[in-house]
Amino acid sequence: MKVSIIGVGTIGKSIAEAINKDFDVSLSSGSFEKLKAWNNKYKIFDNNIDNSEYGEIIILAIRPGIAGKILNEIKNNVKNKMVISFMAGIKIDYIKQYLTDSIIVRAMPNIPILIKKSVTAYCYDNIDNASLTNVKKILSKLGTYVEIDENYIDAVTGLSGSGPAFVSIMVDSMINAGIYLGIPKDQARELAINTFSSTLELLNKKNMSPSDLRDEVMTPGGTTVAGIYELEKGNIRTAITDAVAASYKKSKEISEKLYK
Ligand SMILES: NC(=O)c1ccc[n+]([C@@H]2O[C@H](COP(=O)([O-])OP(=O)(O)OC[C@H]3O[C@@H](n4cnc5c(N)ncnc54)[C@H](OP(=O)(O)O)[C@@H]3O)[C@@H](O)[C@H]2O)c1
Repeated sequence: MKVSIIGVGTIGKSIAEAINKDFDVSLSSGSFEKLKAWNNKYKIFDNNIDNSEYGEIIILAIRPGIAGKILNEIKNNVKNKMVISFMAGIKIDYIKQYLTDSIIVRAMPNIPILIKKSVTAYCYDNIDNASLTNVKKILSKLGTYVEIDENYIDAVTGLSGSGPAFVSIMVDSMINAGIYLGIPKDQARELAINTFSSTLELLNKKNMSPSDLRDEVMTPGGTTVAGIYELEKGNIRTAITDAVAASYKKSKEISEKLYK
C-alpha cells in the first residue's frame, strides 16, 4: 500500500524509517535538495500535490503553522483517501474544512518515536474498518498506540507528549543524587537509567500497580520509606500533576490561538 509522507523532519523521518519495510513510502518536504539524499530508499517528490496524488494514505508531519497552506495544496488529491495528521494542536474539524471527503485521523506521538517506541494517541470521527486496520498497522510500527477521544488530546500532550521531558528531569535528578553521594558519573548514569527502565518493564510485564511495587520495596522503618518520606515532604506528586496540567493548559492555549 502506498503511503505519502508530507514533511520529513523529526517525526516524518521517523515514520518513514519505521514503515518503509511494510509500505511503499513516498516523501515531499520543504527542501527537495535535502530529500535527494533519500532517493535510493523512497520515492521522492518536489511538491506536495504530486506526492498526495501518489499515496493511498497521506501522512501530515508538517508544523501546525503551515497546515492551512498544505491542506489547500492537497485537497483535490485526497478525496476518499485516509489522511493521518501528526500536527499538534490542529483539530479534526479544522482539517475537514479543507478535506471534505477524506477520512481524517489525528495522532499525537512522543519523542521515543526516534527508536520506534512512541506511545501514540489517536482519534478520528468517522472511519471504516479497513482504514482503522491500516491506521493500527502504521502506528504499531512506531511503537504502541492508544485510541482516545479528541477532547483529551491536549491532556495527552501534557502527559505523554511532554512526558519524556519530565521523566528525563527525574532521571537527571537521580544521576545527580548518585554523584552527590560520591558515585562516579558514568556508574551513576548507568544505575539511574537502568533503575528507571527495569522498574517500568517490571510494572508493564507483571501488570503491577505502582503502589504495589512501592510496597514490595518499602519495609517498615527501612531505608526506602525514609526516602519516600522526603519525596512526599517535597510534594513530588503535586509537582508532577502541576507539570502535566501546565503543559495541558499551554497546549490548549496554543491550539486556540491557531483558530483565531
Ligand atoms: N517533535 C516532536 O516531539 C513532536 C511530538 C508530537 C507532535 N509533533 C508534531 O509533528 C509535526 C512535525 O514535527 P517535527 O518535530 O517533525 O517538525 P520538523 O522537524 O520541523 O519537520 C517539519 C518538516 O516539514 C517540512 N516542511 C516545511 N515546509 C514544508 C512545505 N511547504 N511542504 C512540505 N513540507 C514542509 C520541513 O522541511 P524543511 O526542513 O526542508 O523545511 C520539515 O521536514 C508538527 O506538527 C508537530 O507539532 C512533534
